[in-house]
Amino acid sequence: MDVYEAVDTRRAVRGFTRDHVPKEVLERVLSAASRAPSGANLQPWHTYVLTGERLDELKKRAVARASAGDPGDKPEYDMYPPNLKSPYQERRWAAAEQRYTALGIPREDRTARHKAVTANWSCFGAPAALFCYIDRDMGPAQWADVGMYMQTIMLLLRAEGLHSCPQMAWSVYHGTVAEIVSPSESLMLFCGMSVGHADPVRPCVRVARAPLNETVTFLD
Ligand SMILES: Cc1cc2nc3c(=O)[nH]c(=O)nc-3n(C[C@H](O)[C@H](O)[C@H](O)COP(=O)(O)O)c2cc1C
Repeated sequence: MDVYEAVDTRRAVRGFTRDHVPKEVLERVLSAASRAPSGANLQPWHTYVLTGERLDELKKRAVARASAGDPGDKPEYDMYPPNLKSPYQERRWAAAEQRYTALGIPREDRTARHKAVTANWSCFGAPAALFCYIDRDMGPAQWADVGMYMQTIMLLLRAEGLHSCPQMAWSVYHGTVAEIVSPSESLMLFCGMSVGHADPVRPCVRVARAPLNETVTFLD
């Protein structure tokens, strides 16, 4: 698989089969992803890999919280700016609309939407998950480094025939994740990532992108 194909076929998969993901594959991917760039080579990330019983326990605890309507732990960072301005708010709505339409969930069906959101905490059925932490002393440039690192992981997973879903949703229950992985005090959970084989019977959404001239300017 070349890089274009990996980029083109990566998508946020929200339905996985139970097929096992071998530890050596995850080791290979994470080892290769360590070549991701970071300013001054700080590598300001730490990843916990969960599979098996520990992941099952985490899913059970987090789904129980979500199902009980628990709003989550005190946020450690803002997922989005408080008043998302145009055109970002429209893009956010459009992505949600495309997703719920593919799932056959009408806008007014709040129960079905809540159920779809709650699926985040069962990792959409994935048998493996990564939890990417950043050192709390780091600033915006290092958060970008972690993003590059995560995209590198997601593209390498494609090369292994695997799919992923990056999930800031896990930061909502960062305390529950911490109960399972016992991170150092100096670390903050940025993002989870479900990993596995895409379930072919689940809807596949290819979320649209803004036209190139909205996001890129060529100057001669
Ligand atoms: C940092 C980050 C966090 C995300 N968090 C979530 C999440 O918590 N739950 C979810 O279902 N998707 C999450 N996504 C997936 C985005 O919704 C998705 O990437 C976007 O809608 C574009 O769709 P695509 O990746 O399928 O092309 C996240 C993506 C990124 C990059």
